[in-house]
Amino acid sequence: MIGTDIAISVSGIEKSYKNLKVLKKINVTVQKGSIFALLGSNGSGKTTMIKILTTLLKPDKGNAQICGFDVVRQSDQVRGKISLTGQSAAVDEILTGRENLRIIGKLRHLSDANNKTDELLEQFHLIDAADRRVATYSGGMRRKLDLAMSLIGTPSVVFLDEPTTGLDPQGRISMWEIIRDLSHSGVTVFLTTQYLDEADHLADQIAILNEGKIVAEGTAAELKKMIPHGHIELGFRDEKEVELARDLLDEYNASLDEEHQTLTIATDGSLKQMTNILNRLENGGIPVAVFSQKLPTLEDVFLTIIGKNKGKGHDA
Ligand SMILES: Nc1ncnc2c1ncn2[C@@H]1O[C@H](COP(=O)(O)OP(=O)(O)OP(=O)(O)O)[C@@H](O)[C@H]1O
Ligand SMILES: [Mg+2]
Repeated sequence: MIGTDIAISVSGIEKSYKNLKVLKKINVTVQKGSIFALLGSNGSGKTTMIKILTTLLKPDKGNAQICGFDVVRQSDQVRGKISLTGQSAAVDEILTGRENLRIIGKLRHLSDANNKTDELLEQFHLIDAADRRVATYSGGMRRKLDLAMSLIGTPSVVFLDEPTTGLDPQGRISMWEIIRDLSHSGVTVFLTTQYLDEADHLADQIAILNEGKIVAEGTAAELKKMIPHGHIELGFRDEKEVELARDLLDEYNASLDEEHQTLTIATDGSLKQMTNILNRLENGGIPVAVFSQKLPTLEDVFLTIIGKNKGKGHDA
């Protein structure tokens, strides 16, 4: 049964290209109005998943619903609910930004194509460039225009295949803002990314896709908890003290950075262990000059999970 608060529901999806198994029993649920990130490296199957959900490709097994409509049996209804912005911007270079938008509006028989165009140009901060040919746009501006074009039909669910790949930091941040605004306006966003920080910043829910399988799923905080081992860094005043400290903390296998007089220790995150370490140094008469704790990043999570699942890849 599909509840009314579920925008995307995927169950047991499988897909192969000839002998190459690309997706293996994928299950995904995305709540309405949320941002879902499918995180994976090159060739992990992200675009294949997007193609199936946007009715461009049929799965071999399993089923998927968008707003309650089946992507295979009710593909027309699904198309009426969604938009897709692909890995490379599908804009017409010869036309201006405004013309690109108006044409899509007319193709969709929108009665107020001109108003909708103005509204989107404003929303995407493209007013100043609206009457310039797209050939003169930066990569970031093209991506924005491409996304704006996909919103002409006011979709309920927006699919973004690697929306920020190839953009500079400013372009990425600007795209992130747009994606957040979309989500705040009630649109459901399903995006793919190779960037951990992007998923971390944007997504309510993240699934890590590796070799066609979802190997971990949850909020950024939940994924980070899968690796309880953070690090602490202890800084000392000079080389002599740092070496004495290392000897005192022998059992913790501290790694020494002589140049910066610091010790890095993997911890289990417990207060008991932390207190033990600090007490031992204090009793040994070695003051800690600098103390910092490093929580695991999503990168650590990703590498650990991928490491655990190492096998045959199907990268081109
Ligand atoms: N039409 C096709 N025919 C045969 N193999 C394909 C086809 N499309 C994709 N593949 C293969 O399927 C695997 C998954 O491809 P897919 O494009 O879904 O990955 P992706 O995660 O989107 O990668 P990228 O990050 O590079 O965009 C890859 O090994 C790719 O070479
Ligand atoms: Mg892809």
